[in-house]
Amino acid sequence: MRNKTCVAIDGPAGAGKSTVAKLVARQLGLLYIDTGAMYRAVTLKALREGLDLTDHEQLTALARRTKIELVPGAKQLVLLDGEDVTEEIRSPEVSRHVSLVAKVPGVRAILVEQQRRMASETGVVMDGRDIGTVVLPQADIKIFLTASAEERANRRAKELANKGYTIDIAKLIKEIEERDYIDSHREVSPLVAAADATIIDSSNLSIDEVVKEIIKLIGNP
Ligand code: DC
Repeated sequence: MRNKTCVAIDGPAGAGKSTVAKLVARQLGLLYIDTGAMYRAVTLKALREGLDLTDHEQLTALARRTKIELVPGAKQLVLLDGEDVTEEIRSPEVSRHVSLVAKVPGVRAILVEQQRRMASETGVVMDGRDIGTVVLPQADIKIFLTASAEERANRRAKELANKGYTIDIAKLIKEIEERDYIDSHREVSPLVAAADATIIDSSNLSIDEVVKEIIKLIGNP
């Protein structure tokens, strides 16, 4: 029997969601779905096409004519209309603009539908901002993973430094706070913990400790 468990992990940028979600998925034999990567892919395409990122109609039309594929593997690949954009969607330029695209109701409706379809086919660990509240309200287990803005900026700085980017940590904290603000104050699907989510603050926890905690919760939902 295939494992159809459905795990929702939400929280702000840099809380460790994707690292933790990937490990939980691997341990339980579930498919990992990174929904942020989908918003990033649409943003990359909009930037490439020089769209006005405040034009909701154009952004929605663009999302409609965009094919996003998440290819499972040791390193999950993100394909944008067949092109591998796994690295490019993590660039600071995409990070700076993605909130503008993620707040567009039409874009969200299109991506949420695709996310639900993916989760209907198999057991998943899905991470994002609105998974427990909107995308999969029936999830077996819901986690809201958070950490202080400073800790999140430090983690992101390390990641970016490893990729060769030069980091201004104060600027990074400001960007993270701005992104949190937009994500949690937008009209459609704001970033909030679902009423039935377990909140985990990872500021002082190792990745392993967070993974263990989640696996334990799944064992006793
Ligand atoms: O998790 P991330 O940093 O890759 O997410 C990129 C952006 O997309 C971020 O601004 C929040 C937004 N997002 C969202 O609104 N809903 C989701 N389910 C996932 C991400």
